[in-house]
Amino acid sequence: MPCSIPSKTLKDHASIWEDAPFLKGSTRFEPQPDINNIMITGGAGFIASWVVRHLTKTYHGHYNIISFDKLDYCATLNNTAQLDKESNFTFYKGDITKHEDVMDCLRKHDIDTVMHFAAQTHVDLSFGNSNDFTSTNVVGTHVLLECVKLHGVEKFIHVSTDEVYGEVKDDGKDLLEDALLLPTNPYAASKAAAEMYVEAYRKSFQVPAIVVRSNNIFGENQFPEKVIPKFSMLLQRNEQLSLHGDGTHTRRYLYAGDAADAFDTILHKGQVGHIYNVGSSDEISNFTLCSMLLGEFGFSNETKEEVYQHVVHCEDRPFNDHRYAVDGSKLKKLGWQQKTPFREGLRTTVDWYRKYGETWWGDISDRLTPFPTIPSDEQTDQARDTELANSPVGSKKNDKRGYDEVDGSPDVKRLKENGHTDSVLGAVKV
Ligand SMILES: NC(=O)c1ccc[n+]([C@@H]2O[C@H](COP(=O)([O-])OP(=O)(O)OC[C@H]3O[C@@H](n4cnc5c(N)ncnc54)[C@H](O)[C@@H]3O)[C@@H](O)[C@H]2O)c1
Repeated sequence: MPCSIPSKTLKDHASIWEDAPFLKGSTRFEPQPDINNIMITGGAGFIASWVVRHLTKTYHGHYNIISFDKLDYCATLNNTAQLDKESNFTFYKGDITKHEDVMDCLRKHDIDTVMHFAAQTHVDLSFGNSNDFTSTNVVGTHVLLECVKLHGVEKFIHVSTDEVYGEVKDDGKDLLEDALLLPTNPYAASKAAAEMYVEAYRKSFQVPAIVVRSNNIFGENQFPEKVIPKFSMLLQRNEQLSLHGDGTHTRRYLYAGDAADAFDTILHKGQVGHIYNVGSSDEISNFTLCSMLLGEFGFSNETKEEVYQHVVHCEDRPFNDHRYAVDGSKLKKLGWQQKTPFREGLRTTVDWYRKYGETWWGDISDRLTPFPTIPSDEQTDQARDTELANSPVGSKKNDKRGYDEVDGSPDVKRLKENGHTDSVLGAVKV
């Protein structure tokens, strides 16, 4: 049963963030007078939570950060719990596919800048339930654009992916931002389709959009359905690594702290109407990744045979791009640099997962299978309710603590029926 979380784990899980390191990027720019209130969609997910933490801390006194998230199965409030006491941080529980949620957030917080990360992101799942990907990634982006068109903003940063370009041959050149979009899987197709809406709204309605296409990002806080945290958790449990195909597929990996810097750079120096690739110089095959991870966990990894002792080959994706390759020189011209070598980022990431991976999201066992299944809405709701009830929100006395509330909504009523206290209820917008 996906997302069923034993109560003991949840109890520990409720305050696990307290002793975790505070993780953010390292850049800081001159605060801009036209940026005041930034809505970051998907803020309780992986990359956006890095950006939320980075911008909240780095621009305290200048920018208010509103993390907007529906708390899907891969999200956790633990990712931003260290910000709960910050006066410039607010969590807004809302769904980008719901016009009323988005409009309410834009108006209530007088939003002038949107950074749009929220999405269904797991390629493996997109082969099974691609409609959810269209609904969130395409329709959700369309709803957001429609609301932004009505409300008016100074900047709309749309987070896309290098996967929109499709596969790049092994001897192919790195792709610039004007390359054709040729997605090959439903996730990538939904991200490419979303971009079409962004561009159309920029042209037709002057939505001040910037598009960002990044290659793979890794680091702490990434839900363990993606390869690095998933393989780390499997090795921690002394289980086999399930490798898609022959292991020769490569991906370029960028550490999340460097990604946070890239988004900070684009927020402050990016030009409206432009597209920016975010590229890493570290291209790693899946086999090499297995070998490096084995080394981090102290297993012998000198020979192929030693590595293969820990690997089971599983059926490949229906189509699996052999590699992606973007040219990120345009962003570098704005001053951004990749600072963290892959091995260094991998080491800190693995350390973090060893300490927090088993409890940060509750029970992750169902995520560690070769092709994970997505939890039903009911299971996600249950896990979410339990997390809200056990989240730092519930343990704080102050009612003005950065969590929006809408009383009387169905989820608030349900929480009340389940016996949750007002101190918890007052803290969430459902
Ligand atoms: N992870 C990568 O390597 C990578 C690389 C390039 C681009 N991207 C893009 O970056 C963005 C963030 O990716 P991630 O890996 O951090 O994702 P993630 O899966 O960790 O987080 C996605 C977040 O979106 C939220 N969300 C989903 N549906 C929502 C909805 N309807 N309303 C509100 N919130 C919703 C989820 O609750 C979650 O917090 C995505 O747009 C993704 O396409 C990711």
